Amino acid sequence: MLVENILEITDLSKSYQSAGKTLTVLDNINFLIPTGSANAIVGPSGSGKTTLLGLCAGLDRSSSGSVVLNGINLNTLSEDKRAQVRNQFVGFIFQNFQLLPTLTALENVMVPLELRGERNIKARALDLLDKVGLATRSHHYPTQLSGGEQQRVSIARAFSNQPKILFADEPTGNLDAETGERVQKLLFDLNHDAGTTLILVTHDLELAGKTQRILKIKGGKLVSDEKTLA
Ligand SMILES: Nc1ncnc2c1ncn2[C@@H]1O[C@H](COP(=O)(O)OP(=O)(O)O)[C@@H](O)[C@H]1O
Ligand SMILES: [Mg+2]
Repeated sequence: MLVENILEITDLSKSYQSAGKTLTVLDNINFLIPTGSANAIVGPSGSGKTTLLGLCAGLDRSSSGSVVLNGINLNTLSEDKRAQVRNQFVGFIFQNFQLLPTLTALENVMVPLELRGERNIKARALDLLDKVGLATRSHHYPTQLSGGEQQRVSIARAFSNQPKILFADEPTGNLDAETGERVQKLLFDLNHDAGTTLILVTHDLELAGKTQRILKIKGGKLVSDEKTLA
């Protein structure tokens, strides 16, 4: 199935209750993401970018409004069904990596493949680790790896289920310039070669400028939505 817009965000809001007060973190956001496009989300710290990414990817539920991912309305799904949708279509690179501490780098990358019941998972996971330059570290645990190396394991894991859409929260934020360049190339190669839709949260305006469109969030509101020259 090929949908024109892989992601449709309509009147999306998220608020938290704390100490009897309502904190509105996202306020009535609307946008459409064409299938196969590369997009950046920018905005100050605390503006709601990570929250927005989590809602778009079905990791969390909105307070109101809807998220339609690959033609599927996530609001009406149970937790389990949302997990299935994520496993089928979505890759996610977390700001804080979220690797499983008791598993090696290789095993972390194998998890999504195992969940999908695929074959040859060890060889495929090794190939992915090789792509991010970590073939020699496959048997190391997350605590034995630097921040940048953990970031790259998390990228290999996100690529492993060949997602239709990849969300990345500050994917180059913890990397030195050279590794950052390599990660950028991996992301854009995936976009060009496999047609994977990209949604990147970034502070790096140079990276944002390499996408086709920049969505700017401020104080939980979408304040601009512009095409770039890329
Ligand atoms: N679970 C939560 N409970 C209460 N407030 C939260 C929660 N998660 C995020 N927030 C608040 O939402 C706002 C936006 O956070 P976040 O989406 O992480 O911003 P960004 O990624 O743009 O830095 C912040 O003020 C943050 O403190
Ligand atoms: Mg964030």
